[in-house]
Amino acid sequence: MPKTHDLSNYLPRGSKIWETSSGPSAACIKHFPAFGLRHPMTAVAKSLSQALQPISAPKTSYLSPLPVQYLGSKNRIREWILSNITERLNCNKLVDLFAGTGSVGLGAMQMGMEVTFNDVQRYSWVLTEAIVNASKVRFDQIKTKLAQPAFYAKLFKGGRNQYEELVDEEQKIFRAASTHKLNLKSYIAFCQSPVPCSPVQEQTQAVPRNALITAYFANAYFGVRQSLEIDALREIAADLSRPESIALMAATISAMSATSSSTTHFAQFLKPNNQSAAEDLLNRRRVSILDVVKQRLDQLQVFGALGLTGASKNLTAEDFLKTQNVPKKAVVYMDPPYFKEHYSRYYHVLETFVLYDFPEVSLDQITKKLSIGRYRTERFASDFGYKSKAVHAFLNVIQLCRKKNLKVAVSYADKSLVPLKTIAELGEANGYSVKSLTVTLNHSGQGQPRHRAATEALFLFDL
Ligand SMILES: C[S@@+](CC[C@H](N)C(=O)[O-])C[C@H]1O[C@@H](n2cnc3c(N)ncnc32)[C@H](O)[C@@H]1O
Repeated sequence: MPKTHDLSNYLPRGSKIWETSSGPSAACIKHFPAFGLRHPMTAVAKSLSQALQPISAPKTSYLSPLPVQYLGSKNRIREWILSNITERLNCNKLVDLFAGTGSVGLGAMQMGMEVTFNDVQRYSWVLTEAIVNASKVRFDQIKTKLAQPAFYAKLFKGGRNQYEELVDEEQKIFRAASTHKLNLKSYIAFCQSPVPCSPVQEQTQAVPRNALITAYFANAYFGVRQSLEIDALREIAADLSRPESIALMAATISAMSATSSSTTHFAQFLKPNNQSAAEDLLNRRRVSILDVVKQRLDQLQVFGALGLTGASKNLTAEDFLKTQNVPKKAVVYMDPPYFKEHYSRYYHVLETFVLYDFPEVSLDQITKKLSIGRYRTERFASDFGYKSKAVHAFLNVIQLCRKKNLKVAVSYADKSLVPLKTIAELGEANGYSVKSLTVTLNHSGQGQPRHRAATEALFLFDL
């Protein structure tokens, strides 16, 4: 006999029934009368996202992409980038070749440019495809699937039922900690307790087909209930038709970034090493992924209402330039990685969420034990992330653009793998007339409280 649940136990504190509607909610309309306003959020998610946001809110008159804490995001300086590109390169089309979160391309779309996004990572493709397809999404269909309490009934569907006890235990800890001081010892013990079917613990059972995130990452990058919410959302997305499926995955990626038990990325997760770290973790894990997903869907619905259109590709930059037709009067905007940390490692959890391919977990090269961050073995290693290969990688893409007579704009930071003057020289050596502009920006110290000022350069290669 299946156990019956008091579903209210699984509703996060303060969680409300989400009313389905065919248009943006009243709150959404209130918060989005025009460009430039931020999405509505619950108090908990708001304070969490503010606490986790590595950069201050963009001073921009354009809508931002779905928030993802992303290394090298150009959200704060995209107006500076775009005004220089449009004024100096005389173009009305833009290829955002290393799109990431899509901030620059989205800004360009709102300026009326025809935009094609591209990035080698699948999660980035989902984020940008969600932007270009937002006007086709039937949001009411997604909302119906996410209405509570039916959504919470899905948490323990199929193979996910084996995580029920862990969720019960986690809920008890949440409840006790809301009235008494958190018992550090017992929370540490809970976080270290075995997670059924985890590929990082001794186990013989296969990971359930609908519980990848829970088996791999529960009590690591997310709480147990949160992990089940993510798996349930992914399962719902798989059953929706295409634009709705992409929109729900994009909203979930953004929610995962806002709520993860990590600093700003997924290279490693936080542990409850002391009282304040444990309380911080608990606060992150209390947040309902579903609530944040709903806010992100409201944001996407606003993109849809603007009727933005464009295209999105998932190729290496080199393959894109070799295989895709880039129209005349288009400028190719390049914002490649400029440090040696690979995006495929820093955001592996997002990639695994999208691919849902039950990857092998890689070994640490030195200890030969499973890698601390539980990275997937199959990851893309960008030549732009190696000191020995980065100049050649630049040369390759610049030559491909020159062959097609395409104007180019390049963003790059000072004191990175390739000296700024080398980038200008590569442009000139390929027959471009090169202008360089700079702006000073505080870079996130990758989760450390330190922030360092860096010079961000923009190179404009004209024909
Ligand atoms: C600095 S980030 C781009 C940030 C983006 N402009 C934004 O504002 O969010 C660099 C991006 O390049 C992508 N990337 C790295 N190597 C690539 C390659 N060879 N081809 C295409 N994309 C690549 C990474 O996945 C990452 O998303």
